[in-house]
Amino acid sequence: MNKGLFITFEGADGSGKTTQLNLIKNFLEEKGFEVVVTREPGALDLGKKIREILLHYDGVVADRCELFLFLADRAQHVETFIKPNIEQGKIVLCDRHTDSTVAYQGYGRGQDVKLLKDLNKLAVNNLTPDLTLLFDVSTEVAQQRVGNEKDRMEAIGLEFHKKVRNGYLELQKENPERIKLINANNSIETVFEDTKNIIINLIEEK
Ligand code: TMP
Repeated sequence: MNKGLFITFEGADGSGKTTQLNLIKNFLEEKGFEVVVTREPGALDLGKKIREILLHYDGVVADRCELFLFLADRAQHVETFIKPNIEQGKIVLCDRHTDSTVAYQGYGRGQDVKLLKDLNKLAVNNLTPDLTLLFDVSTEVAQQRVGNEKDRMEAIGLEFHKKVRNGYLELQKENPERIKLINANNSIETVFEDTKNIIINLIEEK
């Protein structure tokens, strides 16, 4: 492998994707790869400020304002962090990326999905993940895992989160090559095996 890789981790709040991301980071580092872990929203200084508004602002946030804040964070993140790291040959593992916007702001909030896909393109300026892992879990299980301390997005309610889940599944059907579905109802160990196998296949192909 002589070029870096960009792998995104997607799924509901409470799907266990962040746990898996950290397990994969350790696994890849043990194999000798240079790995960078990051997230959206809010990986970098400016992004952290945007994240604070998005997840903790307690006044009214208009849907389109929310959308543009996620996109602004992404544009900055791609330009100043993700692209340079891929160019340096690293494996970039990103907790949420473009599919989150389509699932949450599109399918969840009901904004125009096609328009959102175009706005995502503008934000990422020709970057597509080499692989996206979709951790799918029933909405009820996911909500239980999240518990009672919910941020602004987690607190929206069951119906919203069901629409988000369906949105993700639609995206996976549309992009079966890029987006791999993982049953995240299973144990952490089983999910890790599934995740690891998909990533090993990708690395062997490159
Ligand atoms: P997390 O970092 O704990 O996953 O929280 C981020 C929240 O923001 C999560 O509820 C998903 C949501 N989100 C969107 O609604 N749209 C987006 O584009 C992104 C990146 C996240």
